[in-house]
Parts: sequence; C-alpha cells; structure tokens
Amino acid sequence: MVSRYHTPVLTWIHSAANAELEFSYLPFINYHLPSHFMRRAIYPGSFDPVTNGHLDIIQRGCKLFDEIIVAVLVNPEKTAFFTIEERCDILSEVLKTIDRGDCHVIVEGFEGLMVQYAAEREANAIVRGIRAISDYEYELQMALMNRRLQPSLETVFMMPAEEYSYVSSRLVKEVFQLGARVDGLVPALVEQRMREKIK
Ligand code: PNS
Repeated sequence: MVSRYHTPVLTWIHSAANAELEFSYLPFINYHLPSHFMRRAIYPGSFDPVTNGHLDIIQRGCKLFDEIIVAVLVNPEKTAFFTIEERCDILSEVLKTIDRGDCHVIVEGFEGLMVQYAAEREANAIVRGIRAISDYEYELQMALMNRRLQPSLETVFMMPAEEYSYVSSRLVKEVFQLGARVDGLVPALVEQRMREKIK
C-alpha cells in the first residue's frame, strides 16, 4: 500500500476572494497566510547569554518577518547563568543597537510550552539558527515535535555568518568562567554583565 504521506493530495483551498481547486502535496490542511497579514515569528531560545550569532540571526529574520518576538524560554536541560529577567533585560538593551529595518522586534520571557506561547501570540513561524550539521539532529527533533503539537506553525532554519558558526552560549560561559575574554563573541554589554554577575 502506498503511504498517504507519499501520495499527492487534492485539497480544496477556500479563500474569501475566490474558491478554486489547487493541488497540494501536503498530507494535511494547508494554512495559507494572506499576503496582507502581518508575518510574526517567534525566535525562542535560552539566550543565556545572547551571543553575536543570535543577533546575526535576528537581523536576518528581520528581512523575512514584520515582527519577531525573541522569546526567552526555559531549557530544562541547561543550568542557568542569568535569570530569565536578566536575559530579557540584556536582550532588550543590545537589540537597540542592531539594524532591524522595518521589523518590530520585542523580547519576552515565558515558562511553559513554546507552541502554546506561539499560539497565544498568534505567531506564524518559529525561527531557529543552525550553525553546523551537529545542530541539525536536535533542531529537527524539536521542529517535528513542535509541528506535531501545533501543525499550523512552521519552523524556519536560518544560518548565521560563518564567523559565528562555532559560537555558542555554552562555550562563551565556559571560557569566560575560566578567565578568557569573550569580546567579539558577545556584545560588550553582555561581557560587562557577566563580570558583574560573578563579582
Ligand atoms: O537556546 P536553546 O536552549 O537551544 O533553546 C531551546 C528552547 C528553549 C527553545 C526549548 O528548550 C524550548 O522550546 N523550551 C520550552 C519548553 C518546550 O516547549 N519544550 C518542547 C520543545 S519541542
């Protein structure tokens, strides 16, 4: 038997303006976003701390979306350096310094299920950065789980500039705590707040 996931599906897609038969390969309802709708994305992460790689992704996302909500969430697998409030505060400050074009960028903290938060905020997409193939497995698992939980929400993977392809919050914290400088990897404000935190 041919799997329905490999069978082209004829889907009636109704729109207010015209109802016409369209062909779709998707095995589920197609959630079209009218072109006049605001495209709002969630960029979720721990941001503990925000790195130059994260800021690079936000700037790239600004080319695609009208609004990006940078959502500081809890990753239960990670031990926190900054509190969620501190991370939000730092992010809000450093975001003032980047070119956002016409994109509206806001920062919010949330504890709970990311897709639930995205639904509350009526977001159309999740943005995640992928640096190397090693990120892909984890990101794919999350994207597919999120899709299962909320099929109308698409995950968009974006690649940061090559110079940030090895930069992670985890490594920044590790080398910083062992006494190394982290300038060039994080905004100056982040390094300053990290110094204040360990005083
Ligand atoms: O920056 P990170 O730590 O890689 O981000 C992971 C994060 C925070 C996006 C992920 O852990 C998350 O979505 N946490 C919220 C709880 C949730 O929805 N978990 C299910 C993910 S499939």
